[in-house]
Amino acid sequence: MSKFKYDLGIIGLGYVGLPLAVYSIDAGLKVFGYDINSEKVIKLNQGVSPIEDISDKTLNLSIDSGLIFSDDSKSLRDCEHIVISVPTPLTDFKPDLSYVINAAQEIAKNVVKGQIIILESTTYPGTTLEILIPEIQKISDLKPGEDIFFGYSPERIDPGNKEWNFKNTPKVVSGINDDSLSKIKSFYEKIIDTVVVVSGTKEAEMVKLLENTYRQVNIALINELAILCNMLEIDIWEVVEAAKTKPFGFESFRPGPGVGGHCIPIDPKYLSFKTRQIGKPVRFVELAQEINNSMPAYVVNRIIERMNVLEKPMKNSKILIFGVAYKKDISDTRESPALDIIENFKSKGVEISFYDPFVDSLIVDNKEVNKETSQENFEEYDMLLMHTPHSEFSSINFSKINVPIFDATGSEFIDDAERI
Ligand SMILES: NC(=O)c1ccc[n+]([C@@H]2O[C@H](COP(=O)([O-])OP(=O)(O)OC[C@H]3O[C@@H](n4cnc5c(N)ncnc54)[C@H](O)[C@@H]3O)[C@@H](O)[C@H]2O)c1
Repeated sequence: MSKFKYDLGIIGLGYVGLPLAVYSIDAGLKVFGYDINSEKVIKLNQGVSPIEDISDKTLNLSIDSGLIFSDDSKSLRDCEHIVISVPTPLTDFKPDLSYVINAAQEIAKNVVKGQIIILESTTYPGTTLEILIPEIQKISDLKPGEDIFFGYSPERIDPGNKEWNFKNTPKVVSGINDDSLSKIKSFYEKIIDTVVVVSGTKEAEMVKLLENTYRQVNIALINELAILCNMLEIDIWEVVEAAKTKPFGFESFRPGPGVGGHCIPIDPKYLSFKTRQIGKPVRFVELAQEINNSMPAYVVNRIIERMNVLEKPMKNSKILIFGVAYKKDISDTRESPALDIIENFKSKGVEISFYDPFVDSLIVDNKEVNKETSQENFEEYDMLLMHTPHSEFSSINFSKINVPIFDATGSEFIDDAERI
């Protein structure tokens, strides 16, 4: 019989923490969720989910099964395992670990012997050993690896992905010593189908950066090739479809308006920050960032060219952007290339509106962007831009809309459009 009231305490109830809470409850664990955002906690306790992957119904079922949310960290002392899933953004273009440090301070105030603390926030190699543990040790004299146990496990959640969810996506785990590792491994085995062990926390931290840098670099490659193919009058989409038929040694990536979200544009910068400390840039990362960051302006320029051909001036023209989330079927607009595109168009005097069933409102340049809500108004625009191909858009008959379309995503439901 465990001395702890909860099997799991989660710090940070966002895209990562909330699914962990719900899946852990499903697995029969007792779970306490802590978040500093009091408004979020109130809504969660009312059964209102802030993320698409967890429906209100699922959340309510979890609450009925005992899931507790609070903005008071005291109950962390009652949790056997504590998972940290707080943001790790960039501030002034540098990794910002202040949220991890704050979470560590909350743990330190409440830590008790026997607890197992796992960092899941994406970060650079060395964070668990060099930042998290020393921060807790400033207050607590419990011995890491003997009295309290530590590890790192990268989160691979892919919001909106219907096939790979929290439970069936293999999870990489690590610990600072054998005792920590064996406790962390057996914890995740209760909630995840496949657990993959690596030898240390630095390796586990690096796994996540490899995965996202790989995506960043390959997306940049296909984006650069898309620009070159356009100049060479070669259809990149046809090339990608044909190359994809190779059953080995090729993974297909698609061109697009740039990269967005909390991971792909940010995580590689954590890697380059760390390697710059040893005097080495990650050259691939920096080049990939440059190419991907240039894509929103490329999309705008292609549309300007198209408008020129149509003899329409940009100033006072009306453009409607379909989808502003950074990827399909979710509402997250963080780092979305749509933000740069909208800002760029606005600076050219374009009247820009967006149509996105997932996004209620959007602020760019401190101003609310006009939200189009009626499909009947589509014909009133001078140009349509497909930015995020939400599944819902497949029900729109684009061929019936008598307005030119620029498709930055190669979506299968638009036949007659200029593509990236
Ligand atoms: N979103 C993803 O798809 C994804 C995927 C894999 C990894 N990650 C990583 O996971 C981490 C969390 O990302 P997210 O998307 O869930 O972020 P999020 O912004 O959706 O949620 C983070 C939550 O942490 C809370 N928080 C911040 N500081 C806190 C503190 N000191 N104590 C308690 N709560 C605190 C915030 O209020 C927020 O609710 C990041 O490091 C991110 O890079 C995210």
